[in-house]
Amino acid sequence: MDILGISAFYHDSAATLVRDGEIIAAAQEERFTRKKHDNQFPSNAVEYCLQARDISADRLDYVVFYEKPLLKFERLLETYIGYAPRGFRQFLMGMPLWLRLKLHLPREMDRALHNKYKGRYIFTEHHESHAASAFFPSPFGEAAILTMDGVGEWATGSFGTGRGNKIELTHVMQFPHSLGLLYSAFTYFTGFRVNSGEYKMMGLAPYGEPKYYDLIMEKLIDLKEDGSFRLDMSYLPYCHKTVMTGSKFEKLFGGRLRRPESPLTQREMDIAASIQAVTEEIMMRAARYVHHQTGMKNLVLAGGVALNCVGNGRILREGPFDNIWIQPAAGDAGGALGAALLVWYQLLGNERKVDGRDKQQGSLLGPAYSNKQICRFLDSLGARYHSYADDGQLIDKVAELIDQEKVIGWFQGRMEFGPRALGNRSIIGDARSEKMQSVMNRKIKFRESFRPFAPCVLREDVNSYFEMRNEEDSPYMLLVAPVQKGKRLPLDVPLESLKGLDKLKVKRSVVPAITHVDYSARIQTVDRQRHPKLHRLMSRFKEKTDCSVIINTSFNIRGEPIVCSPEHAYRCFMGTNMDVLVMENQLLYKDEQPQAKQHEIDEYKAQFELD
Ligand SMILES: [Fe+2]
Repeated sequence: MDILGISAFYHDSAATLVRDGEIIAAAQEERFTRKKHDNQFPSNAVEYCLQARDISADRLDYVVFYEKPLLKFERLLETYIGYAPRGFRQFLMGMPLWLRLKLHLPREMDRALHNKYKGRYIFTEHHESHAASAFFPSPFGEAAILTMDGVGEWATGSFGTGRGNKIELTHVMQFPHSLGLLYSAFTYFTGFRVNSGEYKMMGLAPYGEPKYYDLIMEKLIDLKEDGSFRLDMSYLPYCHKTVMTGSKFEKLFGGRLRRPESPLTQREMDIAASIQAVTEEIMMRAARYVHHQTGMKNLVLAGGVALNCVGNGRILREGPFDNIWIQPAAGDAGGALGAALLVWYQLLGNERKVDGRDKQQGSLLGPAYSNKQICRFLDSLGARYHSYADDGQLIDKVAELIDQEKVIGWFQGRMEFGPRALGNRSIIGDARSEKMQSVMNRKIKFRESFRPFAPCVLREDVNSYFEMRNEEDSPYMLLVAPVQKGKRLPLDVPLESLKGLDKLKVKRSVVPAITHVDYSARIQTVDRQRHPKLHRLMSRFKEKTDCSVIINTSFNIRGEPIVCSPEHAYRCFMGTNMDVLVMENQLLYKDEQPQAKQHEIDEYKAQFELD
């Protein structure tokens, strides 16, 4: 039985194909259209899913959409009526899209499936889809479920339990009170883009002090012991305006919002640190309450807030649960997967077997390209490359190049599903290098200099480098943990003397490129089973250097979706200062290629709107 899951029209459209409960394929539309967070109907992703199973749409048994458009429309209408006559402009702006697309979804889906699908369409609820995406692929037979995001139809957060093949959400929190939207309001205020800059604000937080924590708690939010809260909407005009913060908010924080791309000041860093601390407090209270109410040992998480890996790390280290599992595509893209699994298990009542391993398959669920396809593409360009018949020789060479501080595009196997590159569409480099953080930010990714990089660490060595509780796994890069004290270095200047971005200038550990200014790191553990080739590469690197850690950042530049095909990878390689590109068993050196001219690099960068 083939079930197609779809999410679309909000942000991060995606499609998934589930066959007899097994995840066959999943991908975000942005990877194909090259438009970051593309929210159009995911026609390309659907096409890919059908190809992956080699079927046409008439063979699909069910098509399921990840939320209920009518309920969402009702929320929009009621919010408008609640604030009328204010908000008329915002209401009018949203209407054409609703009338044209969202209220006629079956028609839209018919068209995308070339009128071949004759079955019925199923619509699941937004938070049910998140919950299903968290529980069903998890390794647990039973678990507490916690979802938190911006907003779905009405719900902004929910909790309940999953047992066997059933989930049940018993509690919901409703719009406009939303942790996701609160975090986004601060993202907006600190001059980053809503729905994509949240990650940047989280990365900025360690440069500041949580000076505004009490102010936020006192004025903006009425937080209960159980983690639920009410926001004072007079500070947050997002219900009736197209902005997220207004003059009252500015007055409270003693100044105007930061214009995007203008210099960052200590104030933004302190504000980021404060809202991050508030968010962690809410996540911790919610986790404790859910534990208390459900009595479960395991917790699963999804919804955009579950991408707050600093908060996740705290729940794991300080929280009451024995184990946690987080859906890697925790945002709305993952809703497509949850919706499809919900149909298979909950609606159709199929048995769910657990064997201690998750069913996400390393989240490597996107397209793959063979050596033959890659060579054909490179030949068509006249690119110079070296093909390695033997994996061992290739790996030996790449390990040597990392040791020489080369920046390497690493393109292998199936593309990742979810926002993180997990070693199949990654740029990798030497974590021991002092210059690498700045080189990668400025010359490769063309992004803000304050942004930290994440490490890949050999699974078996995680505890020698990081303080992970119980040597926990973090295969999806969703947990932040401190660098082990034994790997830290004495500072050559007193810590108190460092303010703001000056904190960057100090070497803090034996792996400085991935040690954030507060000694934290967003960890991906690499194991032999999920990532055999990367594991081999890192093991070889360790043999050479005695270091089990490398940098792993997504294969893209600022504003660009992660690369999908060899063509995208080659263009990104040529459009940046990357030294080496490895695609399956082909290795390319930049200095052997016809040099890309500066204007071509500029044109490449100009294609992607800054995020
Ligand atoms: Fe969501």
